[in-house]
Amino acid sequence: MSHKININGENKVVAHDAEDTVLLAALREGLGFPYECNAGACGSCKFELLCGQVESLCENPPGLTARDVRKNVHLGCQTRPITDISIKARLSNEYEPLLKTQRVKARFLNSYDITHDIKEFVFITDQPAHFQPGQYALLSFPNLGIKRAYSMSNLPNVKGEWRFQIRKVINGKGTEFLFNQVTQEDVIEIDAPYGMAYVRDNERDIVCVAGGSGLAPMVSIARGASDQGLLKNKRLHFFYGGRSYKDVVVESQISDLPEFGKKIFFHPVVSDMTEENIQKWSGEFGFVHESVEKKLGECIKDYEFYFAGPPPMTKSLQETLMLKHQVPFNQIHFDRFF
Ligand SMILES: Cc1cc2nc3c(=O)[nH]c(=O)nc-3n(C[C@H](O)[C@H](O)[C@H](O)COP(=O)(O)OP(=O)(O)OC[C@H]3O[C@@H](n4cnc5c(N)ncnc54)[C@H](O)[C@@H]3O)c2cc1C
Ligand code: FES
Repeated sequence: MSHKININGENKVVAHDAEDTVLLAALREGLGFPYECNAGACGSCKFELLCGQVESLCENPPGLTARDVRKNVHLGCQTRPITDISIKARLSNEYEPLLKTQRVKARFLNSYDITHDIKEFVFITDQPAHFQPGQYALLSFPNLGIKRAYSMSNLPNVKGEWRFQIRKVINGKGTEFLFNQVTQEDVIEIDAPYGMAYVRDNERDIVCVAGGSGLAPMVSIARGASDQGLLKNKRLHFFYGGRSYKDVVVESQISDLPEFGKKIFFHPVVSDMTEENIQKWSGEFGFVHESVEKKLGECIKDYEFYFAGPPPMTKSLQETLMLKHQVPFNQIHFDRFF
């Protein structure tokens, strides 16, 4: 059943079915509703409910405080209207979607290993795969009744191919299904594209930084920069941080690009100084944000930064860039993988 959402007394959007959150309905209409994770964790999508009734998809989302609850503040990405509603939200042009989002059925095609715990999963849709390199999709697994965000690792294409590089999470519902149960009979739903950390064209050299599961969007950005001819007059530094020597074997994801070794440079770094890592890894040890700082040196303010990975890694890199080196905010684009 459809419900009208009146935003700030002037924008009217419609949530069409039980799947539509306030955020998704607003973005589909092209409104700049603020958001980041689409998963209830970052708190960017807060709005105040002025009248009407809503239901929450998640009992205690980490992005909402007790004070928010007392003030009738909700998360756009975790809230569905169950009557017509009026809300107050801070809309902003920077969140206006570049491309119209689409919700399409996708068939599982195949998967293969990238590292010991990351696999690439390939899905096919009847419609073209429209997105910008660096963006993500929401995958719904109908039998499980859950939705998860995964970034595309390939490039937009008319044949409807969607590739996701996904890390196995112990006791994770979505990844358990993908790693151990999915078959070619399975049809899932892809809702995309989302995310603001997509590749931009400007005069600055590009830095991509991925930690663990943050690989996919950085691979897509590197491929996109090459494909769109953005590297004619600039370089791309690709940093990858893992705990073990087994994690950082991802060079093959970009080493086939024509600029590799000439304009694209791969910088792997391992954080855990275990006996095994010391014996088997002759490269750099440390955290990836330290490696970025060390390699880029004095010129750190001159780059365009893209990064993705677990929140502690993105936080450390944000602090290094923004607080320590005053890299301008508009040169920093990232997704936290909650
Ligand atoms: C914008 C964005 C993009 C992303 N892109 C990628 C990507 O490209 N690749 C990728 O690998 N990941 C990505 N992620 C992460 C991804 O969305 C999932 O969060 C991740 O795959 C885990 O999903 P899951 O269903 O397997 O685990 P979940 O079932 O969500 O569980 C996660 C963890 O919580 C624990 N847990 C679950 N339920 C409970 C409970 N009741 N009590 C206590 N603990 C519990 C589980 O044991 C597990 O350790 C992205 C996330 C975001 C926000
Ligand atoms: S976008 Fe809603 S909490 Fe992150």
